[in-house]
Amino acid sequence: MITLNYKNADAMVIGNANGLNIEQEFSNYKDSIANIITNLNQRKDKPGQWLQWMNLGYNEETIWYVKEFASQVKGKFENILVLGIGGSALGGIAVTEALLKPFWNLLTPEQRDNYPRIFFLDNIDPDTINGLLQVLDLKKTLVNVITKSGSTAETMSQFMIVKNILEKELGADYRNNIVATTDKKTGILRQISEQEGYKTFVVPDDVGGRFSVFSAVGLLPFAMLGLDIDAMVNGIKDMDLALKNTNISENIAAQNALIHFLMDTQKGKNLSVMMPYSSRLKYVSDWYVQLWAESLGKNKDNNGNDVHVGPTPIKALGATDQHSQIQLYNEGPNDKVINFIRVKEFDTTLEIPSIFEYTGIGYLGGKTINQLINAEADSTRVALSDYSRPTITITLDKVDAYNVAQLLYMLEVQTAIAGELYNINTFNQPGVEQAKNYTYALMGRAGYEDSAKALQDKMATV
Ligand code: PA5
Repeated sequence: MITLNYKNADAMVIGNANGLNIEQEFSNYKDSIANIITNLNQRKDKPGQWLQWMNLGYNEETIWYVKEFASQVKGKFENILVLGIGGSALGGIAVTEALLKPFWNLLTPEQRDNYPRIFFLDNIDPDTINGLLQVLDLKKTLVNVITKSGSTAETMSQFMIVKNILEKELGADYRNNIVATTDKKTGILRQISEQEGYKTFVVPDDVGGRFSVFSAVGLLPFAMLGLDIDAMVNGIKDMDLALKNTNISENIAAQNALIHFLMDTQKGKNLSVMMPYSSRLKYVSDWYVQLWAESLGKNKDNNGNDVHVGPTPIKALGATDQHSQIQLYNEGPNDKVINFIRVKEFDTTLEIPSIFEYTGIGYLGGKTINQLINAEADSTRVALSDYSRPTITITLDKVDAYNVAQLLYMLEVQTAIAGELYNINTFNQPGVEQAKNYTYALMGRAGYEDSAKALQDKMATV
């Protein structure tokens, strides 16, 4: 099981001004945390609560279907191209970057055990899209278009471009190169898929995009890439069991949620840095940033009061960002909680040869890069605590399917508990609607004529 060490956020280590009396706070919040956990587990099966992501580890049917589809297409495609944005892409990127062999797309088919290469298009930069389409042979590519709403402009515009090319290149057979993951009943992509006869997978009801990584949104590409879905599911289930524990002393998601909440509300630390010391976990930070930001950044609480809450998440990478951000973290404003992710055992042990005797670098010879990266994680944590900066350390035994699934699920539950502590709706995102509506208006979508007029007036003045 992954572990959480919060010692360096404690007042005993970093002083009363910046640290919390953590055991005392755990005791103060014992009952409210127990109520939150009980309540989330009671609500999870109720429609409209958006908590179905808590059941994804138990969804045998989806797991069976994605594996079945993966075995049908094995060896038929050189590439998978995922079209999606936000929650429809970030989980897939995080997990594939963590679990596939590094530089996967550069490996030969034999080195990839004949599993396909994977590309995610999660933005609408015309140069990037065009660049990718220049290098990808779409005839040999399975396109997985993912959108829960079925109408997201970025995803559907990409899809329209790609489908058009596919149809030109493959004629009527182009349908075999498309699989759509979307809502089971509603949305334009569902309608198109039925009309055109695409193979489809479902984003389940009451699972928001940023909580959807273990639905078919992520599991389908993971299965097609030969990732160990069974180990992932075991990781989720074991973590789910551990996080059903209502005792905060034994529940790491509750502990980290409460520490972040109190650091924000009592100590003025409203920035949350996610800093894995593992390049393979780099994109877990991107995923976390979306999860934390879109879930917790809200202007109203559940009683309708104006609150404008939400700690700002920041991504960083150890050791790289020691040479970029740590100066600020040590000496700048003391307004952050820094989450380190530390990996005990890497797949590779890489020895540094003793080839130079200069005092400045000779000490490195005979050591391993593994020792170096973890020594840097430890020394940065201790240096931060010398500056009275709170840090949390999450430790994974290994970067494997079991542990990565545990990590992501733990962070999802942590986010849900934090949302309850802030007393906000964790699962909506009204703040992204306004700009979306303006985009529709600017792009001439029917029904948005009034917005277009209002927007033109505003654009003339700002
Ligand atoms: O977390 C979310 O709900 C969002 O980030 C969505 O995933 C994102 O906006 C994409 O939406 P859709 O899947 O409907 O295309």
